[in-house]
Amino acid sequence: MIYFDNAATGGFKPNSVFRSATTTLKYLLCNPNRSAHRLSIKSAEMVFNTRKIVSNFFNNGALDRVIFTKNCTESLNTAFFSLLKKGDHVITTTFEHNSTLRPLFYLKNNGVITLDIVSNGGGFYENIVKKVNKNTRLITVNQVSNVTGEENKDIYKIGKFCRENNILFSVDGAQSAGHIRIDMQKLNIDILSIPTHKGMLGISGGVLILSDRVNPSPFILGGTGTESFNLEQPLSLPERLESGTLNLPLIVSFFDSVSFVDKNLEKISAKLELLTESLITKLNSFERVKVYSKKNKSGIVAFSVSPFSSMEVSEYLDKNYDIAVRSGYHCAPLMHKELKTTKDGLVRVSFAYENSIKEVDTLILALKNLLTS
Ligand code: ALA
Repeated sequence: MIYFDNAATGGFKPNSVFRSATTTLKYLLCNPNRSAHRLSIKSAEMVFNTRKIVSNFFNNGALDRVIFTKNCTESLNTAFFSLLKKGDHVITTTFEHNSTLRPLFYLKNNGVITLDIVSNGGGFYENIVKKVNKNTRLITVNQVSNVTGEENKDIYKIGKFCRENNILFSVDGAQSAGHIRIDMQKLNIDILSIPTHKGMLGISGGVLILSDRVNPSPFILGGTGTESFNLEQPLSLPERLESGTLNLPLIVSFFDSVSFVDKNLEKISAKLELLTESLITKLNSFERVKVYSKKNKSGIVAFSVSPFSSMEVSEYLDKNYDIAVRSGYHCAPLMHKELKTTKDGLVRVSFAYENSIKEVDTLILALKNLLTS
């Protein structure tokens, strides 16, 4: 199969990640930080090491504020539900995925928050600043659109504005983590939500990384292996936000993911720029293909093929050429409304470092055949 769906879940992992996950499954199956035996102590040490490397890589300045979650959606939900209070005003953008939009609309529709959504027309920064009021508590933005791969270039300006105005700044790093270096202190990011299994090249999971400016309430409550007689959730972090058994194979192997990405990030993003540029140039030679992306470091190219729906194109590629792409709306309804692609959706190719120009050419040949069939 030619796997071009890496923005959904990365299809390629470094060998060090496989080795580490397998070793954990074989030799370290236990519950970290719960028992006094050797395995539990060793695994707690491995979890600590991963927290530390994540904290260093994203420079949040506080390793106890690295929270392991089930996925990026859970990271975003944890942040919103543990931080937002009645009367808070939130600003977000049309770039967002439903993992941001649905929890925010839920909070809005239940009378907890007021919400403004701004588009990029005229600039995200300018549009956000216009909406700020005295109750604005949080600004949350997607760093890279999962539909087109377009980067929100205003992250630095928005972060600086938030810090100067005592507003919390949250970034959805679903498609940027592992492709763009994210320095939370430099960018004034208070809340960074990332998946482990996309650009970070790990197995499925998520991380919520907080600055020391946030004071979240507990969200999922339960056992932490500490303060057992306390019937309230411990207030120490990460325990306040991390209840129940952790996903040990993911967390231990995520150490190797982060090490690999840290060493190779620039090489990976340069290759993704090359692949996206090559595909866009070739797609532009078809009259009936419309491209919605520019060359980008996240490896994403979205396009339509008239008169076919994105689903028809995707099925044709899968059945006839064993090519996996994503079609439809990518859980990003406002982006598709803005692009005017709500009828047929878009075909989205998303590359990994291991993809090749030869595979791009096979896709181009397949589209040529579709258009002449
Ligand atoms: N959010 C993921 C995607 O863009 C699943 O495909």
